[in-house]
Amino acid sequence: MNKKKIDIFDTTLRDGEQGPGCLLTLQSKLEIAEQLEFLGVDIIEAGFPVSSPADFKAVQEVSKLIKNAKVCALARARELDIDMAVDALKNAVCPRVQLGIGTSDIHIKNKFNSTRDEILAVAFKMVRYASKKIEEVQFFAEDAGRADNLFLAKMVENVIDAGAKVVNLPDTNGFCTPFEYYEKIKFVIDTVPNIHKAKISVHCHNDLGMATANTIAGLLAGASQAEGTVNGVGERAGNAALEEIIMTLMIKDLPVYTTVNPIYISKLSKMVERAMSNAVQANKAIVGRNAFAHSSGIHQDGVLKDRSNYEIIDPAMIGFELPDLILTARSGRAALKNRIQTLDIQFVEKEFELYYDCFLRLADTKSIVTDADLVDLCHDINKR
Ligand code: KIV
Ligand code: ZN
Repeated sequence: MNKKKIDIFDTTLRDGEQGPGCLLTLQSKLEIAEQLEFLGVDIIEAGFPVSSPADFKAVQEVSKLIKNAKVCALARARELDIDMAVDALKNAVCPRVQLGIGTSDIHIKNKFNSTRDEILAVAFKMVRYASKKIEEVQFFAEDAGRADNLFLAKMVENVIDAGAKVVNLPDTNGFCTPFEYYEKIKFVIDTVPNIHKAKISVHCHNDLGMATANTIAGLLAGASQAEGTVNGVGERAGNAALEEIIMTLMIKDLPVYTTVNPIYISKLSKMVERAMSNAVQANKAIVGRNAFAHSSGIHQDGVLKDRSNYEIIDPAMIGFELPDLILTARSGRAALKNRIQTLDIQFVEKEFELYYDCFLRLADTKSIVTDADLVDLCHDINKR
């Protein structure tokens, strides 16, 4: 299969930081940006310079630090926003401005009190304005998820004519199902006559829990760039989680691939979790602390025989330090024996059933049986 490389666009520092309570210090932004560069993302969206002096400074500093990834800054379709974004990016090796405007009728009427024609004209004017100041302009068609597909196609053609090199079609409110989003992206790609002059980007929110699925659907429909955030942080239910997109591309045989190095994922996840004081849910895919934990007897027995029985990803691939099997009331004999054998305690193998029986009684009283509990339990039995 002839595979297409797609660009990974990280927006943890911009859209991710928009999550309630997720404000980052400048120092944390620089550390995260550096780690994103190790990971090998293609574009880092560093902030929204017009929004505050601190965000302007953050984009400036990230621009000075990052050498291998492109650095992007956000702007609304307004001259002042664009001027400040261009200014903040002036030290970036490869700068990009992303500017845009709402494209659903809901946004056009309720946010802008405007018309489709007026919005097309503003978008054209502002993309042209930005293109004269900076080489790489990305346009975002806000709320594309709820926009009329014919109008969206018209908008994409319009902004490509004005000079946009990348057109982002966000499902801003996480409204689409994967089938709908696939159809939308495919419709735009199949309909817009000048589409070959630009890349289509997918940017999905997680309001219905479909952000990663929608992103993959968009890529399969022909998009060339995927946007997301580390740990899926972001407004409301968050953005598509970058680690989920990356690992899906890594382990599935798809017509698209990424060149990022996933070994940094685990470290980056912990860094973002700490910096944002935003705990990752235990069962979060890929990076949750339970993502590679097995606690039932059937699963533990299978994992002890061969991890691939119950793991689709080798945790070492993402730099995840493998936890020991967790012992609970649902654990079986194989896991208990395996753990006792790793501990430096005396254990009479032929009486294993007695150990197992005592273990189950204890496990019924607490959620996890620790190594210390096991040592005490074995000592008690050995004394009898
Ligand atoms: O979700 C969205 O529409 C956005 C744009 C600003 C790209 O984050
Ligand atoms: Zn967004």
